[in-house]
Amino acid sequence: MTGVHPAWLPTSAFRPIGSRRVRVLGDGPVVGTVRAEVAAATAGHGGALVDDGPADLELVVASDAGETDPEAFVVGRAGATTVVRAIAGVGLLYGLHHVVRQGESAFTGEFPARRHAPRQAVRMLDHWDNVDVHPVMGQVERGYAGGSIFYADGVVRADLSRARAYARLLGSIGVNRVGLNNVNVHRTEATLLTDLLPEVVRLADVFRPHGIRVHLSVSFAAPITLGGLPTADPLDPAVGQWWARTTAAVYAAIPDFGGYVVKADSEGQPGPFDYGRDHADGANVLARALAPFGGTVFWRAFVYDHHQDWRDRSTDRARAAHDNFAPLDGAFEPNVVLQVKAGPMDFQVREPLSPVIAAMPRTRLAVELQVTQEYTGQQKHVCHLVPQWREVLGFLPWGEGGATVADIAAGRADGPAGGVVAVSNVGDDPFWTGHPLAQANLFGFGRLAWDDRLVPEAVLDEWIGLTFGDVEGVRAALHEVMGGSWLTYERYTAPLGVGFMVNPADHYGPNVDGYEYSRWGTYHFADRDGVGVDRTRATGTGFTGQFPAPWRDVYESVQTCPDELLLFFHHVPYGHVLRSGKTVIQHIYDTHFAGREEVCRMVETWSRLAGLVPVEVHERVTELLSEQLRCATEWRDQVNTYFWRKSGVPDARGRRIY
Ligand code: GCU
Repeated sequence: MTGVHPAWLPTSAFRPIGSRRVRVLGDGPVVGTVRAEVAAATAGHGGALVDDGPADLELVVASDAGETDPEAFVVGRAGATTVVRAIAGVGLLYGLHHVVRQGESAFTGEFPARRHAPRQAVRMLDHWDNVDVHPVMGQVERGYAGGSIFYADGVVRADLSRARAYARLLGSIGVNRVGLNNVNVHRTEATLLTDLLPEVVRLADVFRPHGIRVHLSVSFAAPITLGGLPTADPLDPAVGQWWARTTAAVYAAIPDFGGYVVKADSEGQPGPFDYGRDHADGANVLARALAPFGGTVFWRAFVYDHHQDWRDRSTDRARAAHDNFAPLDGAFEPNVVLQVKAGPMDFQVREPLSPVIAAMPRTRLAVELQVTQEYTGQQKHVCHLVPQWREVLGFLPWGEGGATVADIAAGRADGPAGGVVAVSNVGDDPFWTGHPLAQANLFGFGRLAWDDRLVPEAVLDEWIGLTFGDVEGVRAALHEVMGGSWLTYERYTAPLGVGFMVNPADHYGPNVDGYEYSRWGTYHFADRDGVGVDRTRATGTGFTGQFPAPWRDVYESVQTCPDELLLFFHHVPYGHVLRSGKTVIQHIYDTHFAGREEVCRMVETWSRLAGLVPVEVHERVTELLSEQLRCATEWRDQVNTYFWRKSGVPDARGRRIY
């Protein structure tokens, strides 16, 4: 393969536009992008970018008294012309890609004009990229697709063509903010804010024509480490002045800079606790520095004790974010967004919703997802996560009839808007994402952040059509391989919501007791009688009490707790009968055999695609599927053997356990 994989924007995806006469009206850098896309799509395909005369497609920026959202667009048909109108270039860009996704049907027959607008104002990707290669974490922390596309040799890359291609991909799915560096801010990375700022300007220039604003992760200790002050105490006036001065310099260089991302008092990062202050004090000092320029601080709620003693049964990591942040509701400046991981633990294959999300009606909340597959197969396994995110965003924290998580993030649940954020999964790998099929997770994130009501199968369908075209047999086979892969991954890994059971060093592969006696607060408590974490109010850590009704009661009782979360909330005997009618131990055996079998079927289905998808994609996925099968076999055998040895209960179907 030469060059970079086009992902979901190969020339063929633009075929419906290629043969058409297209008029683009408007000015500015993003309209320039629209024009360039149309010129590239039509060149050599019979169509043309035209100024006058009849057009098949008109893309127009025009003022509209009734429209206030620059990201919105209206698509309709006027006679034989498809017309896209927006009040700003960015809306036009989104409209163009809407037409691309619609394909021929955007040019056929009549249809009423329809307005499209994003459900979330903030649709952001965070990069955990280090400028330098970190001795333990490599260049991209939890990155499974090679090095950073932004940095090389301790600076921003001289050649930013990769970053440019990435910005184009993100613009096509509506992502509108990018965090440029790791939330764990190391020495060199801290200087992006100051010494390396001219380099950040170059990255901002790359993203701007695609409607994307850039953010920097900053260290809370920056006033000390960069500013030479004796303290970073947020209530010290000199500290506030330092942030104000430093931020003003950033805006002088990048007027549309988005703001900061901050991981404070978390996993060793400095924070306001160092000065006896709370997280509102901490976030607000940065927010005040950003406010005059319209900037936002994304303050992460991932705060917990990572020096826990496993003997201490009263400390529960799941409780930590709510304990730390819920009391601060209403105390944050208006330009603070609290960025909350979707689950209370850490991007596991299955977790309940973080209770923080329903607990802070006076705070802007962004839900944080993880596109990079840290705990879900590390882009060696097919694990299509769009159905998981759809479930998170559509979850009803107050039960039927109440607002969804997406409503809360969008500010539609009587609170202010925050948005949707995710950790990106790309690197300098020729396929962008290591696993070629993991491109669908990046695509799907953007699409769901735009509209959380989209059906995952339909999003997958869009991705398949754009990426592979309409090749007979490919669509159905890819749905078979990818559609249920999240649940397959769940079946062969940690059971019933209990989480982890991975190798602590890299979070890949099975290690049932890997975290059992660790300081990270991640336990399953399996003994000879049973397994699971008692998080009830009655006898456990009380975590269930952090949820509003009905979930506080649904989760509290073993009778009503959903099976897939049973071991997250309860410690139960192996013979406990699930709502499904199976015992816990038999469920563990059955799902582990089934999950591994499903991977065998993926391998078979994929083999049928030889000759139907590009050869380099076929080869890479074939190789990775054999690793997935090896690893799933290891998971099956280690988990089953572990629980057979602990419980002494044999498999009812007499299958081989070691
Ligand atoms: C996980 C991950 C870390 C990361 C952290 C975070 O714990 O393993 O590498 O820094 O999440 O979200 O900050």
